[in-house]
Parts: sequence; C-alpha cells; structure tokens
Amino acid sequence: MKILLTGGAGYIGSHTAVELIKAGHSVVIIDNLINSSEDVIKNIKRITGTEISFYKLDLRDDFSCVFSGHVFDACIHFAGLKAVGESVSLPLRYYNNNLISTLNLIKTLENHNCKNIIFSSSATVYGTPAEIPITEQCPKGTCTNPYGWTKWVIEQILTDLHVSDPSWNIVILRYFNPVGAHQSGLIGESPKGIPNNLMPYITQVASGRLEKLHIFGNDYETPDGTGIRDYIHVVDLAKGHVAALKALKKSSENQTSDDNGLLSVYNLGTGRGYSVLEMVNTFEKVNGLKVPYVIEGRRAGDIGICYSDPSKARRELNWKAEYGLEEMCRDSWNWEKNK
Ligand code: NAD
Ligand code: WQD
Repeated sequence: MKILLTGGAGYIGSHTAVELIKAGHSVVIIDNLINSSEDVIKNIKRITGTEISFYKLDLRDDFSCVFSGHVFDACIHFAGLKAVGESVSLPLRYYNNNLISTLNLIKTLENHNCKNIIFSSSATVYGTPAEIPITEQCPKGTCTNPYGWTKWVIEQILTDLHVSDPSWNIVILRYFNPVGAHQSGLIGESPKGIPNNLMPYITQVASGRLEKLHIFGNDYETPDGTGIRDYIHVVDLAKGHVAALKALKKSSENQTSDDNGLLSVYNLGTGRGYSVLEMVNTFEKVNGLKVPYVIEGRRAGDIGICYSDPSKARRELNWKAEYGLEEMCRDSWNWEKNK
C-alpha cells in the first residue's frame, strides 16, 4: 500500500516509516520539520535502502500538490506539537497547530477520496484513569493540559466524522510511554532543550549533559513510592501501526456499502508498569553507567500509576509488544551515545 505519513520525520513517525517499508509498503512523508530535521529522512533511507518521497510542508497550508504525484491507500497522522509543559504556557499555539492541521488534513484526504486514517492519540485522554490496567472501555477523563485536550478533541472530531460519514475507516491508537530507538542508532528521539520525559532525561544524565535526575515524588502508593508507567519500545509501537494498517485495509476491502467503515480504538502499551526507580536501576545495570538522582516533590498534574490492558490489540490486530525494559534501556543509550 502507499501510505501518507504526516509528521513522518518525527520520533514515532520515522520508526513507523522503517517498519512499513520493511513490511513492503511505500511511504510518502509530509513534515514541516518544526521538531525534526531532514537528516532523519536520510537516515530512514540508509536503514531501509529505499528512496523516500519527502515534502517539507505545513499541514495547515494547502498541501494538495502532494496528491498530484500520488494516490494514497491510507494516511497515518502523527504530526502535532507534543510538549505538555509548553502547551500550558502556549495553549493557542497547540490548539492552532494540532486542530487546524487535523481539520485541513481530513478535508484534503476527503477531496482526494482517501478515507482511511490512523490517528496518534495518547493515554493522556484517560486523565486520572477510572481503572488499572486501563482498557479502551475506560471513560475518557479530564486532561490536565492543552496538549492532552487537543488529543481528546481530535478523537471526538474523528468519531463525529464517522457518524456523519460511516464510509471512513478510522483507527485511533492510544500510545502509552514510548522509549528506545532503532537498533542501528541512526534514528531516535531528539527533544529540544531540557527533556520533559523520563528516558531522555536519564540518557542525558548518563552522558554528563545534565547533572542529575530529579525524581518527582516517592510517596505514591506504589511498591517503592515512585510513579509507575507503561514504557513501550518505539519499534514495537511502530509495528503496532503496521498491524493497524492491515485491519484498516481488510475493512476497506470488505466494505460493501457507504456505511460500514471501521471506527476502532486501541491501546498500544506492554501491559506492564515500571517505576521510576526500576527504570534508573535497569538503565544502570544494562549499560554499566551511573545515573545520579535526587528525590523531589510530585510534579503538578502527574498520576501515580498508569499502565494499559493491551489485550484488544492482541486479539483484533494480532499485535503485542515484544521488547522488554532491558532492550528499551540499551537502545535508548545506544542512540544517545551515537548522537
Ligand atoms: P515528534 O515531535 O517527534 O513528531 C511530530 C512531527 O510532526 C515532527 O517531526 C514535527 O516537525 C511535525 N509537525 C508538527 N506540526 C506540524 C504541522 N503543522 N505540519 C507538518 N508537520 C508538523 O513527536 P512524536 O513523539 O513522534 O509523536 C508523534 C505523535 O504521537 C504526536 O501526535 C504525539 O502527540 C503523539 N504521541 C506521542 C507520545 C510520545 O510520548 N512521544 C505519546 C503519545 C502520543
Ligand atoms: C514518566 C514518570 C514522572 C521526568 C508524558 C505525557 C503524556 C505522553 C507521554 C504524549 C512519571 C517521572 C519524569 C523526570 C521523573 N505524551 N519523571 N523525572 O508524564 O507519563 O507522560 O509523556 O502524549 O501525555 O504527559 O511521562 O516520561 O514525563 O514521566 O521523575 O525528569 O517519570 O513523574 O512518574 P508521562 P514522563
């Protein structure tokens, strides 16, 4: 299939491009490079040995020129701004970028008769989860930041779109905590400035770029008091998209009328939670490095425990995460030291 990847030069998009190509698909990438660089495109080519069509465009602008050279079977929509803290200080920038790009994308896809889309959502839509492990039936909650609300609202927009026109095939993927990098060390996560997320903070402490890790709270109701999350290797996450695409294809091929397209939501996680201290200890053990840390107060908006029940994706997409925490720590460090 020919797949349009928005935000395909970013962290998750680039790993997904590699896995899609490995699975025999061809990809076309649109990215405005606001949080990535053209080197990523070169490195996807190096890993896969395949030429990639890349368009440096902003999804909020008219990008219909891309369709003059390609007919797409489906679109995977990764593009968006994602820094939680920044979204609190610059909410309008987040609403503008994430919502306008999505609305413009849907319209443009519709104009070109491509009604198959996979959307990058987040576990953040569950807010403070009503149940652990979190299933897809768990009600969406109250988000604590504008970034989270953009995901929440886009899910609603896609749901309303499907009600109004059920010929759309829509898969919403709720990612838990992606970490790690491609084993080649050629692509990975490159946060700008001081990282917000745990794993890139750990790797930058290990490399000496940052002095020590600040652990946000050790008074949660968890075995060691630190927060528990469902970390998932980005390559496993990327393979989840390949599996979702298969389901989308099957549905669109079996579609007999204009009203039986697919609308499905899947958690993409491992189903296993690890605490901050388990992350630090495993990283130190696997890589033979020290990660100095201090315990501080809780971070505003954080919850104690968050991990998925990924069984729906296993059952319906025949996908499950394969990598463990040791590989996540090894590949995160391999990327950091090659940068
Ligand atoms: P990323 O920032 O690495 O990738 C996003 C890409 O989108 C970037 O390359 C950026 O340049 C591009 N982009 C942003 N706005 C654009 C626009 N208007 N037009 C064209 N390109 C634009 O982020 P990521 O970690 O790869 O995340 C991909 C998607 O997954 C995002 O939608 C993010 O919200 C979602 N997500 C990420 C995580 C995570 O922890 N990384 C977790 C859950 C959901
Ligand atoms: C993980 C754990 C922290 C940094 C965020 C977004 C979410 C999603 C994924 C996009 C927590 C602790 C962290 C540090 C620490 N992104 N921590 N010191 O908060 O689960 O999720 O990224 O959709 O929307 O909110 O991930 O990596 O920031 O934190 O102690 O310097 O590590 O308190 O327990 P989080 P995280």
